[in-house]
Amino acid sequence: MNIIGLSGNVKRPSRTASLVETIVSTARDRLRAGGHVIELVDAAPVLFRALRSDQLDAEGRAIIDAVEAADVLVVGSPVYRASYTGALKHLFDLVDYRALTGKRVILAATGGTPLHGLMTEHQLRPLFGFFNALTLPTAVYATEADFSDYGIASQAVRDRIERAVSELAQVLPAADANATAGVSSHRPARVAANA
Ligand SMILES: Cc1cc2nc3c(=O)[nH]c(=O)nc-3n(C[C@H](O)[C@H](O)[C@H](O)COP(=O)(O)O)c2cc1C
Repeated sequence: MNIIGLSGNVKRPSRTASLVETIVSTARDRLRAGGHVIELVDAAPVLFRALRSDQLDAEGRAIIDAVEAADVLVVGSPVYRASYTGALKHLFDLVDYRALTGKRVILAATGGTPLHGLMTEHQLRPLFGFFNALTLPTAVYATEADFSDYGIASQAVRDRIERAVSELAQVLPAADANATAGVSSHRPARVAANA
């Protein structure tokens, strides 16, 4: 089980990267999985060398391959101009349109205002609808006030992370769910058929 986090941040340090890292490490611990976080501040300069997937060099191809091969994605972005960052969109423009079918995805975002907390629903979720991916119901949104020195300081945000990871455990294939400590597996039939 390989969990890849994608954080759309284009600067460092980053609240979004901190949020995505926390979700990935919570999921890794719960599911006894592996995985790591790709930050767009690192990946975007590589990926923007290609405007189309057939122009990717080896370094860019490796990033896209890691996304396409992941068992689970945790995708977060800072809200920029009421959406996710253009850097994150460019990455997904390079992903094969068939590669994310049925893939489990946890959505996350950070923003300056609670008013843009539905960016995950209006912008990120439709992107994964296009890919026929399986986004988990609970998305995690945090504002700047939820962080202290770029670490999560809000119990409410931590609780939402726990909820999202519990939902992830419930939709995993039986073999992975059996390895999950303390979480029962209630797997919808349609998910079982797609795994
Ligand atoms: C170019 C730019 C555009 C932004 N647009 C919005 C916005 O539309 N809505 C919002 O709530 N916050 C907006 N913000 C604030 C960021 O989303 C917020 O500071 C976020 O937590 C930054 O994440 P980071 O630390 O990972 O870079 C914007 C910030 C920048 C730099």
